[in-house]
Amino acid sequence: MKALVCRAYGLPHTLELAEIDQPHIVADEVLVKVAYCGVNFPDTLLIQNKYQFKPTLPFSPGGEVAGTVVAVGANTKQINIGDVVVALCSWGGLAEYVAVKAAKVFVLPQNINLKAAATAFYNNATAYHALKDRAQLKAGEKLLVLGAAGGVGLAAVELGKLMGATVIAAASADDKLTQCKNKGADFVINYATHDLKESVKEIAQDGVDVIYDPIGGTLAETALRTITWSGRYLVVGFASGSIPNFAANVPLLKGASIVGVFWSGFAAKEPTRNTANMQQLIQWHSEGKISQQIYKTYSLQEAPQALQDLMDRKVIGKAVVQIE
Ligand SMILES: NC(=O)c1ccc[n+]([C@@H]2O[C@H](COP(=O)([O-])OP(=O)(O)OC[C@H]3O[C@@H](n4cnc5c(N)ncnc54)[C@H](OP(=O)(O)O)[C@@H]3O)[C@@H](O)[C@H]2O)c1
Repeated sequence: MKALVCRAYGLPHTLELAEIDQPHIVADEVLVKVAYCGVNFPDTLLIQNKYQFKPTLPFSPGGEVAGTVVAVGANTKQINIGDVVVALCSWGGLAEYVAVKAAKVFVLPQNINLKAAATAFYNNATAYHALKDRAQLKAGEKLLVLGAAGGVGLAAVELGKLMGATVIAAASADDKLTQCKNKGADFVINYATHDLKESVKEIAQDGVDVIYDPIGGTLAETALRTITWSGRYLVVGFASGSIPNFAANVPLLKGASIVGVFWSGFAAKEPTRNTANMQQLIQWHSEGKISQQIYKTYSLQEAPQALQDLMDRKVIGKAVVQIE
């Protein structure tokens, strides 16, 4: 089969399009014929050996695919050959076939658009777990989303609105903020041209209840200072490349919490709750209540460019690779 292969850690241009053996499945796995693979920030970290998971070399990146099940392991009861599925496979998805643990595979309605499905669930699963399970976001609360036009950011904007919050979307460019408005953001802040703390104060004098931060770096400390009494600061990621060190006096004075979010850890340790979340997201997706804006569709050969575009902050919404 054709696959994009990482043989040595490096930047996207070092990935190689190759002919390799089709993967074999074990008892608790299914084999998916991949139609589309969504591209996510962790793919760019995996190939550079900068992610918390370390697949053995050589491997194919690609953690989110939509396709059709072509084989099932002996212990796999819930999934059948012919099922149309989304698989959150962690890696291996930039290939014609991927072997995935059945617990990471979710059956979709038959009439679903596979390209849309391949981009719809990884970011939303992260954002929904963050807002629902970790922040316990309530209707009427104020939610500040940083990096709001990125993958997990835009998902949080859309889900925050769906959950009844007032959403303040913050990003580094006006065209990114237009995208956030299109997803329902009530207010927008350009933190490249405006002071974040002052801008939040103008919108929410007493501060915000929940802060969703996929960026980290220097903006994090400023953002934390906009939190209200009993607020929750969600540590989602470090797209800036720098892990913030928070001054502990702010959570003390605001009675606030700094809350970690690690969706794949949650999915592995609490599969029943994760499956319930996924079923809710699949329902919302099929009702048209959530969708990801597709930035561009790439061929498998062009997939390194998709990863590079993500690293260059060009992608608004999701990059997707067409495999078949
Ligand atoms: N905790 C979890 O379970 C979980 C799950 C998935 C992803 N993540 C993490 O969440 C973070 C964001 O992922 P994503 O898929 O949303 O990525 P993305 O689509 O690339 O968006 C990241 C956003 O961060 C901002 N940014 C600031 N500095 C940046 C830099 N130096 N390079 C790139 N972007 C920068 C950009 O927005 P502006 O230009 O507007 O500032 C960009 O839109 C990553 O660290 C990822 O590993 C965590």
